[in-house]
Amino acid sequence: MNLTLKIWRQKNAKDKGKMVEYPISGIDGDMSFLEMLDVLNEELIEKGDEPVAFDHDCREGICGMCSLYINGEAHGPDRLVTTCQLHMRKFKDGETIYIEPFRANAFPVVKDLVVDRSSFDRIQHAGGYISVNTSGNTQDANSIPIEKEKADAAFNAAACIGCGACVATCKNSSAMLFVSAKVSQYALLPQGEVEAKDRVLNMVHQMDLEGFGNCTNTGACEVECPKGISLENIARMNREYIKASMSK
Ligand code: SF4
Ligand code: FES
Repeated sequence: MNLTLKIWRQKNAKDKGKMVEYPISGIDGDMSFLEMLDVLNEELIEKGDEPVAFDHDCREGICGMCSLYINGEAHGPDRLVTTCQLHMRKFKDGETIYIEPFRANAFPVVKDLVVDRSSFDRIQHAGGYISVNTSGNTQDANSIPIEKEKADAAFNAAACIGCGACVATCKNSSAMLFVSAKVSQYALLPQGEVEAKDRVLNMVHQMDLEGFGNCTNTGACEVECPKGISLENIARMNREYIKASMSK
């Protein structure tokens, strides 16, 4: 395939940034999107130009590091896949592909396509954990019966990889889908009940401090989420929040 890439280049957080055009040829449909960018970067390095900075780690859809906005969609045109799992066969020979970073005030650009998502880490630190006694006397989790429906819903919520596609997609830059997945994961299990009230209040408070917008029920986040996190989690988080606020 021969393609034209239009890529956001920005030297640092203060630089204004601009789209730069790069023609690329010899791209195989079986290559992943990131492998295609590797080819481009090798060419740029050979020419003595600065390679395009982009985030990646596992390249298996697990870590949540890859974070590209491709042709106006977070993680590109395919559904339920991350950028690293997106294949070039989803594009046509001769196509022009626009590649931008995940944009949100709470995700400032570090360089080119790399954004700072440490706001997610701070939300997680505010309550996305459980405190358990690990002295060796901990009750075996398998000895606590959990309804199948609840276990499945908790497992589905725990599939969130913290990529930030929900924020990048949302017209309000809301982080509600991410935070609600983290809140739900624990709220549904007995292990999470002990700290449930503080968790939801603290995580929502931190979410607001970080400057994420509110949810207006558009549902774009659910459509673009590579892990299929459901809007039902937002409804659950809202219920948990109201319950916690009223009993404080
Ligand atoms: S909810 Fe989905 S889109 Fe948002 S951070 Fe989690 S995995 Fe990514
Ligand atoms: S690089 Fe890990 S999810 Fe894409």
